[in-house]
Amino acid sequence: MRAGPLPFFGAAITALSGVSAQSYNTIPEIEIYGQKFFFANGSQLSDRRLTSRSLMRGVAYQENYSPNGTASTNTKYTDPLADADKCKRDIPYLQQIYTNLIRVYAIDPSQNHDDCMTQLADAGIYVIADLGEPGTSIESNDPMWDVTLYRRYTSVVDTLQKYKNVVGFFAGNENVSAGNQTAAAAFVKAAVRDVKGYISSQNYRKTLGVGYATADVPTRNELAHYFACQPGDLGNQTAIDFWGYNVYSWCGDSTYQQSSYGERVNFFKDYPVPVFFAEYGCNENLPGGPTSRPFTEVEVLYGNMTDVFSGGIVYEYFMGENEFGLVSIDGSNVSPYPDFTSLKSQLATISPTTTAKSDYKPSNSAPACPSVGSSWEAKATPLPPSVNPQLCSCMVQNLQCNIKSNDAEGYGAVFDYICGQKEELCSGIAHNATTGSYGAISGCDPKDQLAWVANQWFLSNNKQARACDFSGMATTQAATVASGCQSVLDAVGTAGTGTVASPTGKGTEGATAATSSSKGAAPGLSSPAFFEHGHLIFGAYVSVAVISLVGMFAL
Ligand SMILES: *[C@@H]1O[C@H](CO)[C@@H](O)[C@H](O)[C@H]1NC(C)=O
Ligand SMILES: *[C@@H]1O[C@H](CO)[C@@H](O)[C@H](O)[C@H]1NC(C)=O
Ligand SMILES: *[C@@H]1O[C@H](CO)[C@@H](O)[C@H](O)[C@H]1NC(C)=O
Ligand SMILES: *[C@@H]1O[C@H](CO)[C@@H](O)[C@H](O)[C@H]1NC(C)=O
Ligand SMILES: *[C@@H]1O[C@H](CO)[C@@H](O)[C@H](O)[C@H]1NC(C)=O
Ligand SMILES: *[C@@H]1O[C@H](CO)[C@@H](O)[C@H](O)[C@H]1NC(C)=O
Ligand SMILES: *[C@@H]1O[C@H](CO)[C@@H](O)[C@H](O)[C@H]1NC(C)=O
Repeated sequence: MRAGPLPFFGAAITALSGVSAQSYNTIPEIEIYGQKFFFANGSQLSDRRLTSRSLMRGVAYQENYSPNGTASTNTKYTDPLADADKCKRDIPYLQQIYTNLIRVYAIDPSQNHDDCMTQLADAGIYVIADLGEPGTSIESNDPMWDVTLYRRYTSVVDTLQKYKNVVGFFAGNENVSAGNQTAAAAFVKAAVRDVKGYISSQNYRKTLGVGYATADVPTRNELAHYFACQPGDLGNQTAIDFWGYNVYSWCGDSTYQQSSYGERVNFFKDYPVPVFFAEYGCNENLPGGPTSRPFTEVEVLYGNMTDVFSGGIVYEYFMGENEFGLVSIDGSNVSPYPDFTSLKSQLATISPTTTAKSDYKPSNSAPACPSVGSSWEAKATPLPPSVNPQLCSCMVQNLQCNIKSNDAEGYGAVFDYICGQKEELCSGIAHNATTGSYGAISGCDPKDQLAWVANQWFLSNNKQARACDFSGMATTQAATVASGCQSVLDAVGTAGTGTVASPTGKGTEGATAATSSSKGAAPGLSSPAFFEHGHLIFGAYVSVAVISLVGMFAL
C-alpha cells in the first residue's frame, strides 16, 4: 500500500489512496470522545491504541438549496445522496480537494441511498446530515417541536443510521439568527433530546451524534453554552454531541486575530464536545470576485487551531445564487472555479499532528446554562415536552368534540376565539420558552391541538351541542380509550398540563389516521402549506379577530 497523500488521517488512508474499497458496512465509524473525533476500528473499538483522531476536511454538498431558510414557499429539494450518477460524477472532484466528509442539508427518506453511500465510503468520505427540509423545520420566528417535525427527523435517522460513514445529524441550522429569536433554541434543544432518545430507544449505533450548526450571531456564546449545558438530572440527554459553527469572518487574506478565529479558539478551549466549522469560506470583497477565494484560513484551521477545532466544511460544492460554489456543472461535466484550485493547494500543504486516543484525556465539563434575561429568552428547564405521536392519537380518540375540517385556513379563527375567551382552556397547547410553560398537547399537530381546545370549550359549556360546531368545523363523537392509551391519558390530565412520557416506538407509529390523510403526504413529509399555516395561527391570539368572530361562534 502506498502512503496516502495525507498520512495523518489514520484509518482513511487506505480509502484515500484508492487501494482498497470500503463499503459502508466496514468503514471505521467515527466516534466522539471528549472534544475530539476519532476513527473507531470496528470490533477493536475498545482498544484505544488503534484509533486516531479525525479532522474534517468537509464540503457542503447540496444542489439548488439555500440553507439560510426562513419559512420557504419553495419547498422542493434535490436529495444529494439518491442519484448514483451524480455521486459518481462528483466524488473524484471531492477527492481532489481531499474531502473526507460532506454535509447534506435535506435528504428524502423515501429514496434509496445505498449506491451513493457505498461510493462515498469507498472514497473514505463521511456524511453529516441536517434533519429538516425546507417545508419541515424549526422556524425561527414561530418555533415548535411537534409530531410533524418528529416524524421527519426520525425518518431521516431511520434511513441513514445503517451507513457507518454517517457521523451524525444536525437537529437545527441557524434557527436562531437574530437577537429576538433566542426562544427557538429551546425547541431545537428539545429536538436534540428526542432524536438522541430515539437513536438510543431503537438501539442504533452509539457513535451517531446529534448537533446544532450555529450562525455567527451576537448571542453565539449563549447559544454554545445553552446547547451543551446539562440542566436538571438528565445528564447529557439534552446536550448536543458536537457543535457546528457557520463562520464567514475570514475574508480574503485575513488573519487569525482580524477574523476573530483566535477569540473563538479561546472561547471553545473549555467546550466539552467537538467543535468544527459547519460552513466556512467568505466570498466578499475579493478583487477577483466571489470565485477567487484564496482560502488562506486553511493553514490556520488545520494548523494551530486543531487543538480546539476539528476542521471544517467549506461552503459549498455546487454553484448557486450566492456564488459560493467551487465548481460549475453542465450535465456530466464539472468545471472547477479558481477557488477550487486555491483550496486544493492550501489543503495540500497542511500537516496537522495526529493524536492517538490513548494519549488524550478529556477534561472539559458541561458549561452552565445561560439564565433568562434581556438577551436570552430560552429556559433550559423545563424544555418543550417530548413529542409523543401516540399521545396525540390517544388524546384525539378520547375527545367528545373533535375537529372534522381539514381546511387549516379556518383553524386560526377557532384558536383565537377560544383562547381569547378563556385563556385557561388553552394551557394544554401553551409553548412559551421564556416562562417554561408548556402544555402536554403542545407537541401535537395543529389539527389535534385544535381538537383538544375545541373539546375543552365544549366541556366548559356543559356539552351543549352548539358548543361543538364552529361553523361546521367540529363535531361531537363518542370518546374512546384505545388500547395502551389509559396511562398516557392519565399523564396528560384534564387540563392538558401533565407530564408527557417519551415515545418508545418507531417515529412513524402512532399517527392518527385523520391527521395523516389530511396532509395528503407520506408520514414524515407534511404538506408545507398546512404546516406553516398551523404555525402562523398559533402565535396570534389576535383580539381584533376575536371580536369579529364572537358572533360566529358565540353561544
Ligand atoms: C482494525 O484493526 C485490525 C486489527 O489490528 C486490523 O487488522 C484492521 O486492518 C483494522 N481495520 C481498519 C479499517 O483500520
Ligand atoms: C423578530 O423581529 C423581526 C423584525 O422586527 C420580526 O419580523 C420577527 O417576527 C421577530 N421574531 C420574533 C420571534 O419575535
Ligand atoms: C432550522 O433547522 C432546520 C434543520 O436543520 C433547517 O432545515 C432549517 O432551515 C432551519 N430553519 C431556519 C429558519 O433557519
Ligand atoms: C452521555 O452520558 C452517557 C451516560 O452517562 C455516557 O455513556 C456517554 O458517553 C455520554 N455521551 C457523551 C457524548 O458525553
Ligand atoms: C496561530 O497561527 C496564527 C497565524 O499563523 C498566528 O497569528 C497566531 O498567533 C497563532 N496562535 C497561536 C495560539 O499560536
Ligand atoms: C438566503 O438565500 C437567498 C437565496 O440564495 C438570498 O436571496 C437571501 O438574501 C438569503 N437570506 C439571508 C437571510 O441570508
Ligand atoms: C411568553 O410569556 C411572557 C410572559 O408572560 C411574554 O412576555 C412573552 O411574550 C411570551 N412569549 C411568547 C412567544 O408568547
